[in-house]
Amino acid sequence: MNGADLIRRDLDVFWHPCSQMRDKQAHPPLPVIRADGCRLTLADGRQILDGISSWWCKALGHRHPRLIAALHDQASRFEHVIMANVCTEPTVRLCERLLACANGFGSDLWGPAAPPRRTPGWFAKVFLAGDGSTAVEIAIKMALQFQAQTGQGQRTRFAALADGYHGEGVGSLSVGDLGIYKEPYRPLLFPCHFLSGLPRRSGPLDPRWHDASVEWPAIEAQLNPLADTLAAIVYEPVLQAAGGMRLNSPDLLRRLRGWADAHGVLLIADEIAAGMGRCGALLAGHLAAHGGGIPQPDFAVLSKGLTGGVLPLAAVLTCDRIAAAFDADWHENRAFLHSNTYTGHALACAVANAALDVFADEQVLAAVASNGPLLRAGLERLATMRPYLHRMRGLGMMAAVDLGRHDGTPLPATDRTGWRVCHEAVARGALLRPLGDTLYLLPPLNTTAEDIEILVTVLGQSLDAVFG
Ligand SMILES: Cc1ncc(COP(=O)(O)O)c(C=O)c1O
Repeated sequence: MNGADLIRRDLDVFWHPCSQMRDKQAHPPLPVIRADGCRLTLADGRQILDGISSWWCKALGHRHPRLIAALHDQASRFEHVIMANVCTEPTVRLCERLLACANGFGSDLWGPAAPPRRTPGWFAKVFLAGDGSTAVEIAIKMALQFQAQTGQGQRTRFAALADGYHGEGVGSLSVGDLGIYKEPYRPLLFPCHFLSGLPRRSGPLDPRWHDASVEWPAIEAQLNPLADTLAAIVYEPVLQAAGGMRLNSPDLLRRLRGWADAHGVLLIADEIAAGMGRCGALLAGHLAAHGGGIPQPDFAVLSKGLTGGVLPLAAVLTCDRIAAAFDADWHENRAFLHSNTYTGHALACAVANAALDVFADEQVLAAVASNGPLLRAGLERLATMRPYLHRMRGLGMMAAVDLGRHDGTPLPATDRTGWRVCHEAVARGALLRPLGDTLYLLPPLNTTAEDIEILVTVLGQSLDAVFG
């Protein structure tokens, strides 16, 4: 394979996502010819570590043999059939298992030996979609329609967390708070109230990790005037990823649940980045249990790691109370008529079932518990010699740090320092991607201690190359 030729043809025809195409002249895309575990092989034979799990979806690394086997096995029977008319074993089994996961049961109820039935619990129904943005919009639409069909037609507004990100559709952009992604489309977007003053924490070692009491009164004061008009609050539980890998106290989820119950408002937990083990629990919302029950949202939205990043798939989990408001004779027009062609794609569901098998059999959460802290420890080690690294934070298999001046104030955005560091990292053998001047490591959940050490070393060398 001639890498240079492929790059030239690529730049002629392919529009790269989330990129200024002109940048690609100076920093051409990497010609990948193979991927295994944490490693990408390039056309010239070089191998580089995928330190960002390919946009956070490769929970189990590239080409996990059990996921690939499940894909082949399902493809030998059928790959997709219209789900408005049929039911299929991979889809039904996945829904049963996802509900058991989200309801907080052990792997005996969602692992390979899970019984073929719904396990009673809060979450009761699953609606499937092809990507995260669409799934967030499905939850938004369900919330709005639920309110209208239960006599609360005045509840048409949404609130969300400051610095949140929920995807690229018109609805999911509306409830996101990242200006750079939404600015050009503002005339199309609906208004959303963004809750500020969030209980930012550095991770589970923070003494106030499970305590949002100081910040809550000011958040509640923002919510109270909206109490009669809100349909739902949308949030990324615990980890706000695209907004800069920010961590919030899990106690916020408990408090939001209490407020929402008191005022008839629904909760939509966008677990797309934070769920499927990334934060050390199957769902990030489970971290709020803290010795008590899980303060469950009305909707939990999963994607990315759901298929281990092999195929696109997203799931919207909801509860009996929501589903009941859509259950009526057909002429009452209360059905949820959202239709996407590839809803419930059997290949994706078969792979997602295999991913759950791997989570159970290979003790993936235990691996995150033992190796995840090495990421943050590594960044802390780098920071002892580098006074421009600030606000260290880490949870599960994610650690992040901000670049800044020695006093902690931001560097000029026009310097694109984060980008420069990540370009150095690619040259040294690690695929990293900054969020502005936030640098983060977010490798597959089953990354070894040795590969984490390599990622940290490469990041240190790349920082030195840029900062001297
Ligand atoms: C929290 C969150 N929600 C939604 C999305 C959008 O998902 P997708 O890219 O599959 O549309 C993302 C993607 O990064 C995300 O991180």
